[in-house]
Amino acid sequence: MTTTAAAYIIEVLPDPPARVLGERVEANQLTYGPSEILVARRHPGDVSFVGAVRLAMRVRTPFVEGIITDLQVDDDLKDSGLPEALIAEAEARLRSRGARKIDGLLLDGVGMAPHYYRLGYWSSRRSVVLAWDLASLRDIPESPEYEVVQVDRPDADVIGHFILNSYQPYFRWWKEPREAQKWFRVELQPEDYEDQYERATAEIRERVLADVRNAGASGPQTYFLAYRDGELIGLCDARDSGSATDQFEWCVLVSRSSIGKGLGSTLLGRALRWLRDERGLAHAEYTSTSGLDDYDPLIYLSTVATGAFIKGEFLDCVKTQFE
Ligand SMILES: CC(C)(COP(=O)(O)OP(=O)(O)OC[C@H]1O[C@@H](n2cnc3c(N)ncnc32)[C@H](O)[C@@H]1OP(=O)(O)O)[C@@H](O)C(=O)NCCC(=O)NCCS
Repeated sequence: MTTTAAAYIIEVLPDPPARVLGERVEANQLTYGPSEILVARRHPGDVSFVGAVRLAMRVRTPFVEGIITDLQVDDDLKDSGLPEALIAEAEARLRSRGARKIDGLLLDGVGMAPHYYRLGYWSSRRSVVLAWDLASLRDIPESPEYEVVQVDRPDADVIGHFILNSYQPYFRWWKEPREAQKWFRVELQPEDYEDQYERATAEIRERVLADVRNAGASGPQTYFLAYRDGELIGLCDARDSGSATDQFEWCVLVSRSSIGKGLGSTLLGRALRWLRDERGLAHAEYTSTSGLDDYDPLIYLSTVATGAFIKGEFLDCVKTQFE
């Protein structure tokens, strides 16, 4: 495939690097792959590129959707139309595979968003990459009010119910089937305590259960479960995922009736110390999604109570209307 747009030649990179070939969880917490890379040259046969973009379709989901990310162009070409040409070509390739929704994922604060906006994308939410320097981890106080139990292979059914019933004001992938509502208004949390496990689609329930059942499959993983009067009221997992970035699959989830009482910091403190003391890690990361103008409370918990720093932020732009 070769297209000439905005006076540049855009082609698929043959032999892309092996690390982009597989499936990967992108910074919007959804899984895509394998990736394809488009590169732009000024003239046919030029060895050097002046721009590039990466695209991929989602996997392991009934949603036929794609992602466009890692858009790069030479600084002097930002206003040349080349960024839009790269996005448009990536979009055409995803559309030819049936994509009905495309996420444009970009590093925030470096001026890439307008290129997406011009093509009809709108900002949907933000992802925040949190990082902990475990070598200088502060003392994180523990509340004695809870019984915290460490389990490497928890009961999938019990944990699956808990995960789907935990209160999450911002995007977590298991809320995805209801996500469309949030693009137009903030989703009001139901006041009646209807069972969110029963309310979830069968597909989401199965994905949550499979992820809990597969605990440890991609590297050592453990769960810290908190109980009060025998009732499960919170959890935090931690995993040593080798070179992969995120050291948490779920991170901290606390039941609605237990928030604001030191439980989140107790659990996250345990998980961070496990990564440091049992796994010998010097560094931990977690990517959390947020609203556009408000952080998920997990981000305050991580930064204020456990000393994480914000390593970077991504903007997730979305397009669902195509001519
Ligand atoms: C994020 C969450 C996992 C944190 O668990 P938690 O048990 O409530 O956290 P802790 O009580 O250990 O909080 C420790 C510190 O984190 C910070 N923190 C936690 N939540 C915060 C929030 N919403 N805003 C600002 N800081 C927050 C505070 O510094 C807090 O210390 P403080 O209570 O002395 O001020 C949990 O609150 C949750 O799931 N929240 C989602 C629902 C929610 O926040 N609802 C309120 C909407 S406004």
